[in-house]
Amino acid sequence: MNTKRVLTGMRTTGQLHLGHYVGALKQWVEVQNTGDYDCYFLLADIQALTTHADRPELLTTSVRDVVLDWLAVGLDPTRPNVHFVLQSQVSERAELSIALSMIAGYNEVTRNPTLKAELKDLGKDATIGFIAYPVDQVADIYMVSPTPPESGDKLLVPVGEDQVPHLEYARVLARRFNQKYGKVFVPCEALVGEVGRLVGTDGQAKMSKSKGNTINLADDAKTVESQVMKMFTDPKRIRADMPGDTVNNPVFIYHRAFNPDKDEVADLAERYKKGRVGDVEVKSRLAAVLNNFLDPIRERRAKFEREDLRELLVKGTKAAKEACVPVMQSVREKMHLVYPQ
Ligand code: TRP
Repeated sequence: MNTKRVLTGMRTTGQLHLGHYVGALKQWVEVQNTGDYDCYFLLADIQALTTHADRPELLTTSVRDVVLDWLAVGLDPTRPNVHFVLQSQVSERAELSIALSMIAGYNEVTRNPTLKAELKDLGKDATIGFIAYPVDQVADIYMVSPTPPESGDKLLVPVGEDQVPHLEYARVLARRFNQKYGKVFVPCEALVGEVGRLVGTDGQAKMSKSKGNTINLADDAKTVESQVMKMFTDPKRIRADMPGDTVNNPVFIYHRAFNPDKDEVADLAERYKKGRVGDVEVKSRLAAVLNNFLDPIRERRAKFEREDLRELLVKGTKAAKEACVPVMQSVREKMHLVYPQ
């Protein structure tokens, strides 16, 4: 029997938003539900520190927020194949990260387009920990690499589009390790959803808390409504009777991503293109659609908020540790890091 595993994760820096849902969580739930994979969902608190080292207290609340969001969208760690893993508690993972960093070129890491874009925002405040995070993330993925590797084993990484460069790099490093020292790692595979990324409510490339352009999974109906009413549309369309663009229009992008009534979306788009519908109507419909989508998520969160969630983290973290011990043992053997006691 081949081993099939999923590893993916999120930084624990606060509540999750609709961008996390379409880019990642939707695929995570789907892959969990196939039942074919052992799934490790990583709460990346160490990676959160790469940008939030000045506010470590934020991590405690964020871990809980992220766990609640995950449970609310339907990830289910009570299933035997589903594990919620606290990154900082798997010490072998940190060892693997150090080992991999020895074969990771400084220049190739700093060329990573995702890192480069984030570096631009951070400017001079970037730390060594931050620069090294792409390598650390490779350790996240490979800590659950099926060991010993058999052909046909799978390591699947469902992620948003922005993570694809990290996955390509993971494959590069794994291959390099195998060539230098002998085969330990199977090639990981990215799984990107239909909508790999969601623009912010202001039309900027990405939703991000610092830009105030998010709609959070935990937002109440009123907040969603006011965020939608403030959304950017087609900047060139200054009156409702003018023909408008629906392709790059954030309101329509969200309709296409979340409105289950495809006929309605087509009808609104047709009328919008002809100048026969106002922004307010399109937005009101979107607010209703998003609130319908979020209602069951809110209900599930309310239920889990009353529960003690620590036990499930202990259980998931233990499972990841068990997967990582043999990986790290073979890395040590291959890298000549085994000494007589
Ligand atoms: N970089 C991811 C993010 O910003 C989080 C992450 C950490 C991750 N480790 C991972 C994603 C391993 C996929 C695989 O959300």
